[in-house]
Amino acid sequence: MRRRLERCVTSACIREIYGKDLRTTPQMEFCMNRPKIIITSKSYGVYCREALKVLEEFANVERRAVLEGEEMRAILGECDAIILGNEKLNREDLSAAKRLKIIARHGVGVDNIDVAAATERGIVVTYTPQSNADSVAEYAIMLMLDILRNFHKASGELVKGRWARFVGAELMGKTVGIIGFGSIGRRVARKLSGFDVKIIAYDPFVRGEDIKAGGALPVTLDELLMSSDIVTLHVSLSPETRHLLNRERLKLMKKDAFLINTSRGSIVDEKALYESLKAKDIAGAALDVFEQEPLQRDNPLLELENVILSPHMANFTIEALTRMDMMNAEDLKRFFGGQRPLYVVNPKVFEYGKC
Ligand SMILES: NC(=O)c1ccc[n+]([C@@H]2O[C@H](COP(=O)([O-])OP(=O)(O)OC[C@H]3O[C@@H](n4cnc5c(N)ncnc54)[C@H](O)[C@@H]3O)[C@@H](O)[C@H]2O)c1
Repeated sequence: MRRRLERCVTSACIREIYGKDLRTTPQMEFCMNRPKIIITSKSYGVYCREALKVLEEFANVERRAVLEGEEMRAILGECDAIILGNEKLNREDLSAAKRLKIIARHGVGVDNIDVAAATERGIVVTYTPQSNADSVAEYAIMLMLDILRNFHKASGELVKGRWARFVGAELMGKTVGIIGFGSIGRRVARKLSGFDVKIIAYDPFVRGEDIKAGGALPVTLDELLMSSDIVTLHVSLSPETRHLLNRERLKLMKKDAFLINTSRGSIVDEKALYESLKAKDIAGAALDVFEQEPLQRDNPLLELENVILSPHMANFTIEALTRMDMMNAEDLKRFFGGQRPLYVVNPKVFEYGKC
């Protein structure tokens, strides 16, 4: 704001307007005492101007390109809050965050942030739970239908001028196995209820009766993998769930089964998945997330014809982005207004009395 003002008007002109020096005007004092929020999430506020307006009421807001390493550490030292997309914030980065008080994760998964390190430094981490659950659930079901009917292939052929028709399979009558019965997993079950499918689910942290109430039959992980025609992943990434689907578990899947992954790339051992797809040990996979993102051009998954690949966009709807934008903005407003934010990942941070 100050820089913008300085660019627009000369100091003589400012003196004329305010009658005194720029640094001493109440307007500038107000501006300089406001918290500084840096937005690194590319999609933040693009579809919801309202969220930016909320922020601009109480803070100086700047947008920066997606950053990492030294660049990221430099901005962490100069802002009070950051609105973060999928950029990684590790312990070393956070040690440079001398001024940072709050990280607002523009999304649901917080596996890109070292939350323990943030908590130790007294930095609050917020996120936007459930904001995009319906979008991701719809996307997972879209991928199921697409991979069963070869829609993506037919469309690709037609664009090239070829009238190629593919015989697919119905979703009706199939067994869909949901791994992770949280916000997204249970929405997938609910939305699938009209498709005449058998729904089974595995989640060791959800009671069997709650899985049943959510419209699915609770089963063990091995049972799920052995009996599903479609396996869909909705687990959050943690050291315990990393490579949950490893080589041995992938081998349990039926030869004509499909895997849908809209959770996190590292839930699956990608190398083992590639080998299993190449050998046609499973029929195919639809993947929105990868162990390394953006997907590298030399990733062998790109050579396969039995995959659908998308660039981590299951949550990219106007509705979900609007909810995410507003949840971050309102929580930052609460925080800088002296209240506790609503969607805190690390409530322990308040116990330490640092904030
Ligand atoms: N592709 C996208 O754009 C996108 C968008 C939003 C969320 N996500 C991802 O989707 C996933 C699910 O999100 P959510 O909002 O439903 O999270 P959630 O926390 O509501 O649900 C996750 C569920 O996984 C369960 N779980 C934990 N460990 C497990 C294990 N070992 N086996 C089986 N289940 C286990 C938990 O009990 C919980 O019920 C997360 O990985 C999130 O990062 C992806």
